[in-house]
Amino acid sequence: MNNKDKSGGMHKPWSGRFNEPVTDLVKQFTASVAFDQRLAEFDIEGSTAHARMLHAVGILSRTDLDAIEKGLAQILEEIRSGSFPWSLDLEDVHFNVERRLTDLVGDAGKRLHTARSRNDQVATDVRLYLRASIDHVLTLIKSLQRALLDLAEKHTETVMPGFTHLQVAQPVSFAHHLLAYFEMLTRDAQRFAECRRRVNKLPLGAAALAGTSFPIDRLMVAKELGFDGVCENSLDAVSDRDFAIEFCAHAALLMTHLSRFCEELILWMSPRFGFIDIADRFCTGSSIMPQKKNPDVAELIRGKTGRVNGHLVALLTLMKAQPLAYNKDNQEDKEPLFDTVDTLMMSLAVFTDMLGGIKVNRDAMRAAALQGYATATDLADYLVKKGVPFREAHEAVAQAVRFAETRGCDLSDLKLSDLRQFSPLIDKDVFEALTLEGSLASRSHTGGTAPARVKAAIAKARKGL
Ligand code: ARG
Repeated sequence: MNNKDKSGGMHKPWSGRFNEPVTDLVKQFTASVAFDQRLAEFDIEGSTAHARMLHAVGILSRTDLDAIEKGLAQILEEIRSGSFPWSLDLEDVHFNVERRLTDLVGDAGKRLHTARSRNDQVATDVRLYLRASIDHVLTLIKSLQRALLDLAEKHTETVMPGFTHLQVAQPVSFAHHLLAYFEMLTRDAQRFAECRRRVNKLPLGAAALAGTSFPIDRLMVAKELGFDGVCENSLDAVSDRDFAIEFCAHAALLMTHLSRFCEELILWMSPRFGFIDIADRFCTGSSIMPQKKNPDVAELIRGKTGRVNGHLVALLTLMKAQPLAYNKDNQEDKEPLFDTVDTLMMSLAVFTDMLGGIKVNRDAMRAAALQGYATATDLADYLVKKGVPFREAHEAVAQAVRFAETRGCDLSDLKLSDLRQFSPLIDKDVFEALTLEGSLASRSHTGGTAPARVKAAIAKARKGL
């Protein structure tokens, strides 16, 4: 068969049924090769497994299998070295690889597509791609978690104000604050690992939608490709992309966690806070204001979170009105998915590096914790421990805070006689409760901010990694 059509373009493998070639605009509009090239290595992996199975069940001769394996190996080389002749005329990665195979090995190449469709082929490629991506993401999350623990280890006694409503609430250690993100990331990793289990099922064998009349061995292909099992329904196998949507949802959540953290870093680096400095190599300057040093990396991660959230919505919308089974709409799953993977990986990597370049200003954190009556709750708790009902203690301390405000000082700066106006039960041991260190140390239950607790939490977290 001649591979060229009348207009000089490349014959599509399906063009036999048609009287005229597609217009140039339609060709460009329907082609995915510009972006699905990225699946090439997985496409070849899947084709190799498929061919081996076809041979094992007696559909493909040994000679044909050898030719196909040799041809696909060469194509892999060409793709890696950049010499592969990608062609827009051939629509997508699948046709490009198949046509090249036929050019290289002749008829054996034309037999490869037996008992297969591009529908189960592309679903397989995307799953292989996503599985590898998840594994990479999981490693990146671990590295970030390690960086968090490294930083936390140095700051179990570094006191900062904990905030609610962005108002000073109660003192916490900087390490405790960091460990909050460690926990979020642990759940993120669990979600991706869960998702991987559902991704790791083989669609091949579903063919176009209804399965195939050939005596295929799907379990053999699944084993060959490292899948945990096969998709149980052929219509579902080729049509749903819930696994990709799920991945994007987890990615959006992880980006949201990073974004919150970035927001804090940005605030903390502002001179109004001055809690931290981010190393120059993660900041940029202004073209007009010579004094500026901007936390661009953190801002960009915060910004890119919007883009990842958008991809999730794009995929949900793509799916919502599709009847069974495969529709070309699904070709649109790739760019959002690929960009989600890229953005997530880049953000994780650069964020991890940036954490290593953070300088903590302990004094500024401490000074901020001393403003805003962060130990007021400790005074109330102190009174409760002496028998005062909590609501009454709350009221007494509120009065004490008002008094301290008129004096322009902290509760711990008040004289014992001043404090006793608010409750005669207050004694000189109160000052221990009113210090930042006393406040921290008193929260020594599981999940609390006491230095000893946080050290134990870090040790446990390290073991869990
Ligand atoms: N490029 C297509 C995609 O990404 C491959 C499957 C096309 N199948 C079809 N029958 N048109 O979804």
